[in-house]
Amino acid sequence: MKMSRLQAHNLTLGYQDTIVLEDLNLILPKGEITVFVGANGCGKSTLLRSLARLLKPKTGEVMLDHQSVNEMATKEIAKQLAILPQGPVAPEGLTVGQLVKQGRYPHQSLLQQWSKQDEEFVEQALEATQTKHLSDRSLHSLSGGQRQRVWIAMTLAQNTDILLLDEPTTYLDMAHQIEILDLCYDLNIAEGRTIVMVLHDLNMAARYADHIVAVKNKTIHTEGRPEEVITSDMVQDVFGMESEIIEDPLFGSPMCVPYGKGRKKKKTTVEKEMAYVK
Ligand SMILES: Nc1ncnc2c1ncn2[C@@H]1O[C@H](COP(=O)(O)OP(=O)(O)OP(=O)(O)O)[C@@H](O)[C@H]1O
Ligand SMILES: [Mg+2]
Repeated sequence: MKMSRLQAHNLTLGYQDTIVLEDLNLILPKGEITVFVGANGCGKSTLLRSLARLLKPKTGEVMLDHQSVNEMATKEIAKQLAILPQGPVAPEGLTVGQLVKQGRYPHQSLLQQWSKQDEEFVEQALEATQTKHLSDRSLHSLSGGQRQRVWIAMTLAQNTDILLLDEPTTYLDMAHQIEILDLCYDLNIAEGRTIVMVLHDLNMAARYADHIVAVKNKTIHTEGRPEEVITSDMVQDVFGMESEIIEDPLFGSPMCVPYGKGRKKKKTTVEKEMAYVK
């Protein structure tokens, strides 16, 4: 059996009277990259937030190193686990440097407020996300993609063994998306960090994940290796979309090619005009 530091036991999650996920059991493999996939609103962010104790379960529990996170001090959790939530907000006027420094908060105490090591982790995080040149800028003055990379930097500065990232590639151009995913891959391979991400791009999920969890109908629809999970039946069930699964020419991982109305040959402008006249 695979080793795991983070697990969900009989987890039921929701808001007020609404149940989003019910009686869910999940073992996140240590030292692997796990990706949650599923349709909008199926509960991926809810699940991720509950793993970081940002949301209290209605029933069941989240275990970190065999201890219920409910019984742990916030700082203890934050030394082990960092989360980048979906759509995070920062106070007005905060600079990039100030925000990324906040990632070091769990490692500080009354006696040890700011060390050289803290400075180094902040520097590394800014470099890894290519945001160093932005460090004096106000967070609110940045573009969507720049801001997203700064939030990732803050999460990295926390230097935790477990990283939970909710759609880390949103707002990023394709090159920066790959860069962030490659960064996660490097952290996983070189340092053995456990990474749990929500991604919408199934093909990137298939490339980078060791373990994919597809969520649907308040529970886990399928989980396993990308080849086991990414099938046209799963895509039909979970996303209600027709697709064909081919092999990624570079990675050999499954690649989902969605059908759509333009799937025959695209019409030329003249053909479109002709069709319109009729
Ligand atoms: N704070 C909240 N209060 C009430 N309902 C909420 C809250 N946050 C989320 N929900 C609802 O819970 C359900 C799951 O939301 P969640 O954000 O987990 O979905 P998701 O899978 O992350 O979706 P997306 O792909 O759009 O990010 C949705 O129906 C959503 O409307
Ligand atoms: Mg979400």
